[in-house]
Amino acid sequence: MFEPKKFIEQAIGEIRKTIGKEKAITAVSGGVDSFVAATLAAKAIPGQLHIVYVNNGLMRKGETEKVTETANAVGVNLNVVNAQSRFLESLKGITDPEEKRKIIGEVFVRIFEEEARGHKVKFLIQGTIAPDWIESGGMGRDTIKSHHNVGGLPEDMDLSLCEPLRELYKHEVRAVGKELGLPEIIHQRQPFPGPGLGVRIVGEVNEEKVKIVQEACEIVENEVDNASAAGKIEKPWQYFAALLPSKTVGVRGDERSYQYTVVVRAVRSLDGMTANFSHIPADVLGRISTRITNEIPAVGRVVYDITNKPPGTIEME
Ligand code: XMP
Repeated sequence: MFEPKKFIEQAIGEIRKTIGKEKAITAVSGGVDSFVAATLAAKAIPGQLHIVYVNNGLMRKGETEKVTETANAVGVNLNVVNAQSRFLESLKGITDPEEKRKIIGEVFVRIFEEEARGHKVKFLIQGTIAPDWIESGGMGRDTIKSHHNVGGLPEDMDLSLCEPLRELYKHEVRAVGKELGLPEIIHQRQPFPGPGLGVRIVGEVNEEKVKIVQEACEIVENEVDNASAAGKIEKPWQYFAALLPSKTVGVRGDERSYQYTVVVRAVRSLDGMTANFSHIPADVLGRISTRITNEIPAVGRVVYDITNKPPGTIEME
């Protein structure tokens, strides 16, 4: 049986042994993995740690404010790096999912290296968990997708890695977060992929599409949270919206429209390695669809993804 208390003691020891007298950088994304890794590191090597939050412009709506407020509340001092245009620029014209993931991973690392140089840092502490490296392939395994923090890392990276959560699955990370005393909004938060909304926009990413997905994700989260608070559904493991690159024909008032399609996705899972689509009641899906098409003028069609993993994956790319 997994014992979070024991794990915390061992992880703190491991971090101290790996980092020694050097300095380390770690990045908080707002997700549970990076927050837990940063909290362990802050306990293990206070005074040797530089914690950053990179706003890559691919975060959920209001995320930067939420993350900084939560971090402040638990005494984690975040250095915010605003890099929205840098990420968007580097993704211009790129449509291949693996290429997108690798570019996002590389831009992250270049930013960490720049931050690290200023603070004479040698190590990068990451919240990589088991499914991240299993799905990224190698050791005879196929690459399902290059997780930004594993297969997306550039080969010539200056920093050495320290990954205290490497052997854990999501539910174990949540248990560690709870044991560390992190607030429920962090340790029970639904997973969010490191490459952010970049993998929820199928094909080329641009500012307009990011805004559409931000709005659509917020509507899905709102409606599912409300339905779950009203006892209508069990909260899914993950629930969000994604954007397809193709437009379809519709009608607004009595005029023809030609607009984007949003995919609503909600899944049940234990560790993200496999998943089943959630059976969201039709009235909740109906409200989500009406709100998305009413509140986001660029969207003319909403579909619900009823694919399990396998054969699908949870995210679109
Ligand atoms: P997939 O799409 O592979 O996702 O079925 C499994 C779980 O992992 C999350 N995910 C990621 N998390 N970096 C991460 O930290 C990534 O590159 C990444 N890609 C997917 C996804 O949201 C789901 O919870």
